[in-house]
Amino acid sequence: MQTTGNKRSSCPSFRLREVASMYFTMIMVFLVILVVALQGTAPRENYFPYKVPLDPQSFLELSWNVSYPEQVVHFQLLVKEPKFGLLFGMSDRGEFENADLAVLWSDGHSSYFGDAWSDEKGQLHMDSQQNYQLLKAHRTPEGLYLVFKRAFSTCDPKDYLIEDGTVHLIYGILEKPVRSLQAINLSAIHRGVQRVQLLKPNISAPELPRDMKTMEVRAPNVVIPSQETTYWCYMVELPDSFPRHHIVMYEPVITAGNEAIVHHMEVFQCAAEFDSFPHYNGPCDSKMKPDRLNYCRHVLAAWAMGAQAFYYPEEAGLAFGGPGSSKYLRLEIHYHNPLVFKGRHDSSGIRLYYTATLRRYDAGIMELGLVYTPVMAIPPGEAGFLLKGYCTDKCTQVALPPAGIHIFASQLHTHLTGRKVVTILSREGREREVVNADNHYSPHFQEIRMLKKVVSVFPGDVLTTTCTYNTEDRNQATVGGFSITDEMCVNYVHYYPQTQLELCKSAVDLGYLQRYFNLVNRFNDEEICMCPQASIRQQLSSVPWNAFNRDVLKSLYDFAPISMHCNKSSAVRFPLGFWLKLAVCNCFSRLANASPFPESTPFKDEIRIFFGSPGIAKPGYMVDDHQNLPMKDGPPRSSGWRRLL
Ligand SMILES: *[C@@H]1O[C@H](CO)[C@@H](O)[C@H](O)[C@H]1NC(C)=O
Ligand SMILES: *[C@@H]1O[C@H](CO)[C@@H](O)[C@H](O)[C@H]1NC(C)=O
Ligand SMILES: *[C@@H]1O[C@H](CO)[C@@H](O)[C@H](O)[C@H]1NC(C)=O
Ligand SMILES: *[C@@H]1O[C@H](CO)[C@@H](O)[C@H](O)[C@H]1NC(C)=O
Repeated sequence: MQTTGNKRSSCPSFRLREVASMYFTMIMVFLVILVVALQGTAPRENYFPYKVPLDPQSFLELSWNVSYPEQVVHFQLLVKEPKFGLLFGMSDRGEFENADLAVLWSDGHSSYFGDAWSDEKGQLHMDSQQNYQLLKAHRTPEGLYLVFKRAFSTCDPKDYLIEDGTVHLIYGILEKPVRSLQAINLSAIHRGVQRVQLLKPNISAPELPRDMKTMEVRAPNVVIPSQETTYWCYMVELPDSFPRHHIVMYEPVITAGNEAIVHHMEVFQCAAEFDSFPHYNGPCDSKMKPDRLNYCRHVLAAWAMGAQAFYYPEEAGLAFGGPGSSKYLRLEIHYHNPLVFKGRHDSSGIRLYYTATLRRYDAGIMELGLVYTPVMAIPPGEAGFLLKGYCTDKCTQVALPPAGIHIFASQLHTHLTGRKVVTILSREGREREVVNADNHYSPHFQEIRMLKKVVSVFPGDVLTTTCTYNTEDRNQATVGGFSITDEMCVNYVHYYPQTQLELCKSAVDLGYLQRYFNLVNRFNDEEICMCPQASIRQQLSSVPWNAFNRDVLKSLYDFAPISMHCNKSSAVRFPLGFWLKLAVCNCFSRLANASPFPESTPFKDEIRIFFGSPGIAKPGYMVDDHQNLPMKDGPPRSSGWRRLL
């Protein structure tokens, strides 16, 4: 039902599991727990460092802790107005079908708690293995507290596998008594979804400098618009001649009562090339917003719901202030107001902690993934289409210091059709480490995540970022680009020491996409205009998306040479930093238990012959060397990368 993750490989064999589950069935089914009506106060010690409201009114509040040694999550659910029960659970993308649920329900006399699952029609069933274990239930003046625990992996095929990255939590409130679990109609209850990163890294906060100061970048008394989604923009100016500092930590400041509406916030620094920026306090998409605010894109801090304070590693800080840096900052707040509350006031923002005693290293941000170009496209109607962007060994060779760089945090980014993102580090032809992965990625939940383990990257290493897209609701090809309906595949990695490399991305060589169009035309009555004035977008929109054309495009992306962008800031290339026609090698030996993606499909003979045959592409497009292509004798098989030119 759920992701078939590799972590399940430690599960007992099927037979053993059957026996175990029969045992559980006998003792546990319809485990009856009386919700004891103890009067008392909330537990005095707080064992739960993480907390989010589940619903927009904060009737349900979830707190949790994670134990990596035991591989268990402890949940504490506060139900402020307990009615006749509630559901809480997890599913692949927040759907109520095929979900894994803990259910508390009451028939009006007794209360019951059980581990349940829903089938593809949304019908609830009691689970034969009770993996949500109720530990405590008690009433306080604030409401009902439930404490229960769940192992990351339960070996029960009906259960959700709790993985790193985003988890879609679902909840429902039972407003009437129900006879039995099976009588609960999931479509008829008050319900919703909340996304969180459950498996927060276990990182102890580094020691903070004594001379640390704070600065709050907050929107002043904004009236939250009564609409579901608002991006609010507010400009802030640093004091005149504010010297260079290091940001060592930041945390959210949320106006009380708006915890469930303030969805995420970012602080951007503006481009130093402009002396001044206009003041602004209003919606980011307003026609009144000055265009110059689009030059405020350098991320200083980012927070999303459920995230904790962000700490820089002890030896690094993010520089701001001083010569060569703009004194203008832009705060952007995403308000998520699905119940369209009117007249709510908000002054939320981010508190920066900074020091004048500069740390040893400046931290930097580097963009990995795909160049924003229509050359990288996703056919319509795909359930899971993969695109890969490379930061090649040649680029890391010229751009990284011999001692390497250390990645400590990462923010994954796609637009609306993105479903999974992963970046893997390879060295000497072998995959070595997952830098960051999210199997349940949602474009609606992008946060900067501290990595559980710092990843060091050395000259000659390769970083491959793979994004999976779902275009089932589209009838045109989706292309790479800036528009929200275009796609991106990006991993912003936060690292130190800062280097000049700001962007290490790739795209398939344009000439090969033109060859693809030629091939499609050969089999399909010349439907694609090969005239020079046709844009790639137009050409893609006339591809008849039959199975063959889809397969060929997939193979093209797997095996056609790429052009590599190895750029310093302000789009200046590294010497030799822009290579066309690099052979792509998908021949890294795989990292066990890490990469959730299937092996590339083998290159089909007929396609290989086509791309290998010189002179077929009509003249006038990419002037490239059709000779000596690796496809002539099959896809490149050597380990590492082969330069073609
Ligand atoms: C965090 O890591 C330390 C070791 O680095 C370990 O002793 C501790 O139990 C961990 N805590 C949790 C909550 O997993
Ligand atoms: C998590 O919470 C449970 C229940 O309160 C507590 O017993 C446990 O020690 C906590 N674990 C961690 C790692 O904080
Ligand atoms: C469940 O509720 C939905 C929506 O209220 C309704 O359309 C459907 O018929 C109900 N299903 C059952 C089995 O009662
Ligand atoms: C990288 O730099 C080159 C040369 O300045 C530029 O043409 C290219 O657009 C840059 N790439 C990206 C992705 O910005």
